[in-house]
Amino acid sequence: MLIRPVEPADLEALYEVGLRTGDAGEDATGLFDDPRLLGEVYVGPYVMLEAGIGYTVLHEDRAPAGYILAAVDTRRFEAEAEEDWWPSLRERYPHPVDDPTTADEEMIALIHHPELAADGVVAEYPAHLHIDLLPHIQGKGVGRALIDRLFDELRTRGVPGVHLGADPRNERAIAFYEHLGFAHLGDDDDVVMGIRL
Ligand SMILES: CC(C)(COP(=O)(O)OP(=O)(O)OC[C@H]1O[C@@H](n2cnc3c(N)ncnc32)[C@H](O)[C@@H]1OP(=O)(O)O)[C@@H](O)C(=O)NCCC(=O)NCCS
Repeated sequence: MLIRPVEPADLEALYEVGLRTGDAGEDATGLFDDPRLLGEVYVGPYVMLEAGIGYTVLHEDRAPAGYILAAVDTRRFEAEAEEDWWPSLRERYPHPVDDPTTADEEMIALIHHPELAADGVVAEYPAHLHIDLLPHIQGKGVGRALIDRLFDELRTRGVPGVHLGADPRNERAIAFYEHLGFAHLGDDDDVVMGIRL
């Protein structure tokens, strides 16, 4: 398996990876009417904006089968997304609802009101990441290899720490992060974890 930086041409394949792992690590395809929405929120900006970086893993068929995506500086990423990512999506998906109940509605709400990291988290862990692998390449050391690759790059750039959010139902991923040395930050219902580099 080959790991290389993500490219704009990978976008559709990476949206597919996100969708197929988007329900607390399991396939979210059946949850969405619009199969692009999850990728528009959690994949696209990291691939397309300058403040994002990422690596993909190519399986035997040379197609992207997983990714690690990150913002080097979360505040800079949030600002660039506000300028260059969310506005066109807000036009395409113009009607957020106050109390979203479907997966589509939840993503549209996030397009209009993006999640912003807490001040106390970005002070110590200014970068953040997302990692997802298709089932056939899970459990083979690829997750650790992608994390190592990203951490090398972040250390080179002088980044002191990285955080992430996880669905509390995703016990497997949380145990993976704990195994790699991530600590739990805060005691919210949302799981936020961080590691110093
Ligand atoms: C979670 C995920 C990224 C982990 O990647 P992976 O390639 O399966 O994990 P690896 O095989 O690289 O495991 C790396 C190390 O973590 C350990 N590990 C993996 N899962 C673990 C678990 N659930 N509990 C404890 N240790 C675990 C491995 O034993 C291995 O240990 P070692 O390197 O010290 O021998 C991957 O399984 C995945 O993409 N899952 C679906 C999507 C998802 O849940 N993403 C996270 C969203 S928050």
